[in-house]
Amino acid sequence: MLKLRHRTDADWAPRVLAGLPELLVEQAHLEKKAASTALGFLFRYPEHLVLQAPLSELAREELEHFEATLALLQARGIRFGRQRPGPYAGRLLRIARPADPERLLDQMLCCAVIEARSCERMKALATALRGVDEVLADFYFDLVVSEARHHGLYVRLAKEIFDPDLVQARLDEVLDHEGEVMREATGMARLHD
Ligand SMILES: [Fe+2]
Ligand SMILES: [Fe+2]
Repeated sequence: MLKLRHRTDADWAPRVLAGLPELLVEQAHLEKKAASTALGFLFRYPEHLVLQAPLSELAREELEHFEATLALLQARGIRFGRQRPGPYAGRLLRIARPADPERLLDQMLCCAVIEARSCERMKALATALRGVDEVLADFYFDLVVSEARHHGLYVRLAKEIFDPDLVQARLDEVLDHEGEVMREATGMARLHD
């Protein structure tokens, strides 16, 4: 597990669960975005063969999460539609340097940290839902298992492309930055506020 610098408060999960429709619509968008980001790496970096099959698999898995979330929305009568993204990912990606190869490294590490934060928060949601809404608790616990794998995958792949010590040092900087981003959180009913 990545050492996230800022731990989500204990009152976060009960608070955002009060805005469940917004949270679940965001979940669907996040899964779709995670798939699209993984595909983006495949298109931009065909020369990095090491990325191709693992990120294709990851994108497929994220699309399965997207479909599962859409089904959950439908089962609960929640309408999926356009939603303004929370500021979290945009703020986090400000640390990414503009030109390759640094850009690739930074973006992969931002993806790793986003996956780790999603994992931390979905675990908090799943735990809060246990005994209250078993279907939703199981849904989030299933996602947690995948996201835990995904953050490790991005770090491992980065270490195959770049010097592992350099990756580790930059990961520390991205984690520090993410801690700052979390302190600016908006308090919206979102996983990524
Ligand atoms: Fe996912
Ligand atoms: Fe993921």
